Amino acid sequence: MTTAPWLAGVLVRAKDVSSGKPVTTPAATTARRAQCIPRGSRCRVSARAAPASTAATTARPEPMNSGERPATATLVNGTVKENAATPRRPSHNPEGVESGITVRFERVALLLSFMNNDSSSRIVAHLKSWMAAAAPGARLPSTRSLVAEYQASPVTVQKALQTLTAQGLIESRPGVGTFVRAARTAKPSDYGWQTAALRSPLAALPPASSTMRDVPLNAISFHSGYPARELLPERLVRAALTRAARGDAALSRPPAAGMPELQSWFAHELGASTPAGTTPPNPSDVVVLPGSQSGLSSIFSALVGRGQPLLLESPTYWGAILAAAQAGVHVVPVPTGPDGPDPAELARAFEETGARVFYAQPNYANPTGSQWTAERRDQVLDAIRAQGAFLVEDDWAHDFGISSNPVPVASRDDSGHVVYLRSLTKSVSTSIRVAALIARGPARERILADRAAESMYVSGLLQAAALDVVTQPGWQTHLRSLRHQLGSRRDLLATSLSEHAPSAHIVQVPKGGLNLWVRLPDGTDLERLARDCETAGVIIAPGNEWFPAEPTGPFIRLNYSGTNPGAFPEGARIIGQMLERNLA
Ligand SMILES: Cc1ncc(COP(=O)(O)O)c(C=O)c1O
Repeated sequence: MTTAPWLAGVLVRAKDVSSGKPVTTPAATTARRAQCIPRGSRCRVSARAAPASTAATTARPEPMNSGERPATATLVNGTVKENAATPRRPSHNPEGVESGITVRFERVALLLSFMNNDSSSRIVAHLKSWMAAAAPGARLPSTRSLVAEYQASPVTVQKALQTLTAQGLIESRPGVGTFVRAARTAKPSDYGWQTAALRSPLAALPPASSTMRDVPLNAISFHSGYPARELLPERLVRAALTRAARGDAALSRPPAAGMPELQSWFAHELGASTPAGTTPPNPSDVVVLPGSQSGLSSIFSALVGRGQPLLLESPTYWGAILAAAQAGVHVVPVPTGPDGPDPAELARAFEETGARVFYAQPNYANPTGSQWTAERRDQVLDAIRAQGAFLVEDDWAHDFGISSNPVPVASRDDSGHVVYLRSLTKSVSTSIRVAALIARGPARERILADRAAESMYVSGLLQAAALDVVTQPGWQTHLRSLRHQLGSRRDLLATSLSEHAPSAHIVQVPKGGLNLWVRLPDGTDLERLARDCETAGVIIAPGNEWFPAEPTGPFIRLNYSGTNPGAFPEGARIIGQMLERNLA
């Protein structure tokens, strides 16, 4: 048999070392071949090193004195020996060397030793030695060559390669080969140049929302914005995903505005609450979105525009504040209360600023939980019409009514003043990120153009699965059960707070939604409270994130749709205790 070229490359390095040249790690594949004399099934190879210059000696990699014991000699030292326990530094060769390399074949039973049960780890050790001197990116011999070289089975060789891959030492590029991985540098990066390139952001970037944090599993968590898994229709979702994966949707591209059947479903749902005398929306008014968050960004960009004013209820959803900042619009807060914003205040804000868009949550607002009265809905819609403006109605909690039903303002509008957002993300599954907006006239075209520029279309697979879930008879049953569960959780948390944290005032027990909005005594240090609660295993969301301008007091938002409602009383007790400590 012959010695593989890559092994020969190592032997050639021995020559370079012996001739005093610094070792520069030649490409393994291009190295000259050394001789190998077959002896039975063995190939005994040894390179007797000539006296090496100091420079060359120091250029060699250090022998390994720890770690896996190589089955063979460290090739980089210029000598290949059987079962070298501790690789030695090359020494002067007393027998002298002729010109060039003298390759003498000693008692090195390289290959036979790989044939025992431990062959794979021996191959690993041997390849590691080779790699220690190989250039990053050097190609390893093919599996077939390794099989021949080590006289091991392909399975054994594969196992060795898998070990090296798992250790991050080699990488295989399918169809190309296996390569030595470049060592990672620990050098800290310097991105200072980006400061000059980017200058300051147009708007100060809000810090990441506390509601999106991952927290330890055993924490009592009131911070998240999304319901716990046990509140989702898991069986319906799994069955829907399986059916969707089998159908056309798994491989085809839906239209940019969404799957027609899903557009119809959204249009029909809103149409069902449209009173007589008002024209219900058409399926073609619907634009399907990958979650309503992306709809907010598109609406603010398309309908408000950079530098232009946008009216927002205050407090309001932190994600709307974020989307507004990213769209570069100028945010104008309008105070809101348990029944919604004061229409006179709203009219004043429109007039003062010249704004043409008002973002609001008429049903179970995040964070306050407030639901506009029927009278307030009409008053606000009248004000919007009078101003020739748009209401962006975020109906995020449409499926989370508890002691009332949500009534969209959009159901009273057929002249394109209301842009309606409806999400399924929180009620169907956080993994099926599907929502829709319903808008009429040129506004819809502008928003659709922004969506196309941003993401072209929404995954057909997810659309098909979402539609499947909401059209199953089990969906209505699920919503009924959800209503009860949310009600019990809301009441349990409210009662626990009154009992254990009497100084925390629940602004309003909401008729729906997922949150309690809690006013704390003046002087509460919110940051410290959140920190102390967290240390005690309770995660809360400080309320400041929900204010587009200065907070009007210390608030926290407590979500009652998280895991383990049985721990709510204990969570409330800890909040009460930390609050007392905070105010002491
Ligand atoms: C008021 C409000 N609007 C929109 C969203 C975003 O929802 P989605 O998950 O559909 O993007 C949220 C999420 O928390 C929300 O609370």
